[in-house]
Amino acid sequence: MKQAILLITDPLSEEGMRPLREASGVELDVRTGLTTAELLDAVKTADALLVRSGTRVTRQVIEAAENLKIIGRAGVGVDNIDLEAATERGIIVVNAPDGNTNSAAEHTVAMMAALARNIPQARQSLLEGRWDRKAFIGIELKNKTLGVVGLGRIGAEVARRAKGQRMNVIACDPFLTEERAKEMGITAGTFDEVIRAADFITVHTPLMDETRHLINAEAFAKMKNGVRIVNCARGGIINEDALFNAIESGKVAGAALDVFEEEPFTGHRLLTLPQVIATPHLGASTIEAQESVAIDVGRDVLRFLNGEPVKNPVNLPSVSKEALAKIEPFFDLAEKLGAFLSRLSDQPLTDVNIRYSGDLADCDVRPLTRNAMKGLLKRNLGTHVNDVNAKFLADSFNIRVSEHKTTESKGFQQLITVEAKMGSDTHRVAGTLLSGFGARIVKVDDYAVDVTPSGHLLIIRHKDQPGAIGRVGMLLAEENINIATMQVGRSTAGGDAIMMITVDHEVKPDEIRRLKGIADIYEVRAIDL
Ligand code: NAD
Ligand code: MLT
Repeated sequence: MKQAILLITDPLSEEGMRPLREASGVELDVRTGLTTAELLDAVKTADALLVRSGTRVTRQVIEAAENLKIIGRAGVGVDNIDLEAATERGIIVVNAPDGNTNSAAEHTVAMMAALARNIPQARQSLLEGRWDRKAFIGIELKNKTLGVVGLGRIGAEVARRAKGQRMNVIACDPFLTEERAKEMGITAGTFDEVIRAADFITVHTPLMDETRHLINAEAFAKMKNGVRIVNCARGGIINEDALFNAIESGKVAGAALDVFEEEPFTGHRLLTLPQVIATPHLGASTIEAQESVAIDVGRDVLRFLNGEPVKNPVNLPSVSKEALAKIEPFFDLAEKLGAFLSRLSDQPLTDVNIRYSGDLADCDVRPLTRNAMKGLLKRNLGTHVNDVNAKFLADSFNIRVSEHKTTESKGFQQLITVEAKMGSDTHRVAGTLLSGFGARIVKVDDYAVDVTPSGHLLIIRHKDQPGAIGRVGMLLAEENINIATMQVGRSTAGGDAIMMITVDHEVKPDEIRRLKGIADIYEVRAIDL
């Protein structure tokens, strides 16, 4: 079996990489410190790419990668990866969100304490031969107010530790409820309330368009005089020019920075200010965190390469293990219903409506929707459609996709109905899993059927007339096509009817043409599932 090539372009913990080295079917290619040209060359044949924040995985890199299927980020922030480009190419991105939370929170608190007590400046002064106790009088953390912008994993850990320092904590986060704040013994506020009230402000949001330069000149103007700023999240969250001016003007008493807008750098004008203390992006640089993120991301990459669901997808919604267990049996059915539906018309697809009924109404069905879309889009877009890009591709073709849930399931324990507007018509197909019998298509448009969704199917729409079935049977016999099963449904006696026939081998275009020539046959479609 061909080995999957796993390219690693940032230094990862040796201990953390051990499971990858020991895994069968994987060839590790560790190449750190690459130039852009070297990276473009190295990524060409890689099946998986593993990075920290040092490698910029740009669109150019993603497009140079001919076999790439997964990008693993050993850490939290994925702002160094072009997620849009990865999603478009159907490349899954996974990260290791939990492994460095503790280290990053501890580093933030250490930076805040060092800032309050001028520890780095005092050491420097000692090294320079001075014993100067007056120049480094600090302030206590106790009874000061800490403003936390972004109360996610790290923000919340920092808030807890600050409570231990007997600080008052006020935080803002779109997901922070009054109840949670109360539980944590902190105050929930708006961004403005937080920055106006705080003596220390620490930011812990991701870097995204909405948070870029969140802390800017306007924000500094609203802060208390003498406020101290801590950033152990991402450089771009604070406008560095505005911070420089705010420190020079005396508005900000000091800043502790672990991250910068441009990294790495040699010489930064903020570092010329004695009120600024800094570390070179060390928040997650502990033995424990590095081992943990490398193990976590490595496991997810191996899961993916073994065809198993990943735990921490970034460009796919993550679904808990328990939720996944409930819906996993329906993955194949959802994809087949989509593929079947795509063959019912040659008209362009506009609106897709997927209804989950019965027991599925309680489940997180987003992965099923993606599978159904994958099946629907594959007919025209080919095999490069996958779970990761199915939604992106639907959006880019202006196909509206909606999900509905209902406990009413027409006698089935669970039912998935995929309905699509195709040109001026609407078509639908419904399927279920029958206990002990497997998947079944139970409805096609308005006709009730009972067909196993696999193998070679023929859908024949015809007028409900005596002899229609016989003529089709005769012609298939003449062509030496063996019928495995046959189902007939009709709307009214003498009205429109449908035949669903499973046959033993693929029906060729010429044979379809002959079937279409039979009297009272309106339409013949061959579907291979
Ligand atoms: P997280 O996703 O758990 O938390 C981020 C929080 O920010 C979320 O709760 C989100 O709702 C909130 N948020 C988003 N936009 C906001 C806004 N405009 N205002 C207020 N809150 C907002 O992430 P995390 O694991 O806690 O990581 C936080 C940051 O720390 C990330 O930027 C990550 O890259 C960075 N990080 C840095 C280091 C380091 O070495 N310095 C280490 C780990 C993580
Ligand atoms: C992260 O986002 O996980 C940190 O910045 C740490 C790192 O880059 O490794």
